[in-house]
Amino acid sequence: MSVTEIQTSENLLKKIIAHSKEYGFIFPSSEIYDGLSAVYDYGQNGVELKNNLKDYWWKAMVQMHENIVGLDAAIFMHPTIWKASGHVDAFNDPLVDNKDSKKRYRADNLIEDHVTKLEGKILKEVTKAAKRFGKEFDHQQFITTNPRITQYQEQMDTINQKLKVAIDNSDLKQLKLMIEELGIVCPISGSRNWTEVRQFNLMFKTELGSLAEESNDIYLRPETAQGIFVNFLNVQKSGRMKIPFGIAQIGKAFRNEIIARQFIFRMREFEQMEMQFFVKPGEEMEWYQYWKEKRLQWHLALGAAEEKYRFYDHLNLAHYANAACDIQFDFPMGFKELEGIHSRTDFDLKSHEKYSGKKLQFFDPVENKSYIPFVIETSIGLDRTFFAILTSAYRVERLEDGSERVVLKIPPLLAPKKAAVLPLVKKDGLPEKARGIFDLLKLEFNCQYDEKDAIGRRYRRQDAIGTPFCITIDYQTLEDETVTIRERDSMDQQRVPIKQLSSQIRDKIALDKILQSL
Ligand code: GAP
Repeated sequence: MSVTEIQTSENLLKKIIAHSKEYGFIFPSSEIYDGLSAVYDYGQNGVELKNNLKDYWWKAMVQMHENIVGLDAAIFMHPTIWKASGHVDAFNDPLVDNKDSKKRYRADNLIEDHVTKLEGKILKEVTKAAKRFGKEFDHQQFITTNPRITQYQEQMDTINQKLKVAIDNSDLKQLKLMIEELGIVCPISGSRNWTEVRQFNLMFKTELGSLAEESNDIYLRPETAQGIFVNFLNVQKSGRMKIPFGIAQIGKAFRNEIIARQFIFRMREFEQMEMQFFVKPGEEMEWYQYWKEKRLQWHLALGAAEEKYRFYDHLNLAHYANAACDIQFDFPMGFKELEGIHSRTDFDLKSHEKYSGKKLQFFDPVENKSYIPFVIETSIGLDRTFFAILTSAYRVERLEDGSERVVLKIPPLLAPKKAAVLPLVKKDGLPEKARGIFDLLKLEFNCQYDEKDAIGRRYRRQDAIGTPFCITIDYQTLEDETVTIRERDSMDQQRVPIKQLSSQIRDKIALDKILQSL
């Protein structure tokens, strides 16, 4: 069947949010109480897709690497861990309030937005000139010689430089001064009536113990990584692990994000899939390159367009890192961080040694000496990966008959339901036959039985949740034990014997080929 894709880029974010809710992928948390900002619940289809993503990551990282093992550390941890990791002192955002709108902003974001506006002005000049000069237009020459553009560029460079120094030195006064000097106004009130800039720690604090007098302040973990570091020796010794080796973990993390917008991109409760890879000091750059490529491959193996992903190397490194980059994805809001790959040196283990007084070293039998390993970290947000998959998968198509369908072209491996079993009509023994097929397939695959409404509408419902196969049971099935199997993306239908169904589905959703390609 011939189809034309309808452009969805306009308002894509809104469309994805509405679709996710309508089809049971993602609901706003506590919705009947008007919701809870930046917290979301995963619905009946969302939880399946999320579990499939975890499974793909776990198998690619743990099952496929003899020298990587898993861990499930508790969310609550000893409060000194967060002192050692630097989170108590340095996991802050600089905040500023507008006194008229009462809106709160990250001071650095306000300044960055100002820089983005200057960038926009450059782009406008370039577009205008390109139109005026047509084929003669020399982009490079224009941006390096046009006085207005070079002036904007100089302004941008100066602002970025000042911002970096202010952030590095936690100079809040300088941030406030920059906001004033640049004449930045509140997007809501339009005024320049700003409070002082204050530091705001992103960790959620709570109390351990039932009586306030007896209690200790503890934190909800802002990353899963520290659970791995403090178990480094437990795992190394009990698993008799030899360097290089990795520890992988999937779990919840919590951050009291100030600017919590853009759906599940920035949440206050979210899930991370992190792996810390312990290596011999001096070998970290080799492994950093290795994991950079490996992790990009993991994303690309799912079949999304390559140009949707890119590396972004960090220029301003955190104090503990000697190299770091993001894998960015082209979300509906533009290219943004999806995963981080960080060379964290021996900062974390060294610091935990210092604070705990326990040795966290590896005895290298070849070198006959102990050392603190260096660490390469791969850290991916599960929710952001979910969002990336939905963004790539969401399509609106015009069909031959003029009707429209919304289809989620989710990689079959990740689809919430693998097959829908649909009796053509609700009589003459077809439902009973269909139930028999459903009962057989459900032993191996997550399937859905549906006998309500016309077959076309049932196909649409399955397209909307990304089910790769629709199996239709008709009168011929009763005669010759065959069914039609409709493929989601092409909508092609084939007649196949019931006994071939399992192998056909298995072939399409199999993980082994993907794992082999990594
Ligand atoms: N252990 C390192 C670490 O936590 P990070 O860059 O702060 O590094 C890693 O976070 C990943 O976690 C990010 O690339 C992103 O995918 C995800 N992430 C971070 N903050 C998030 C938030 N507020 N909501 C959803 N995902 C988030």
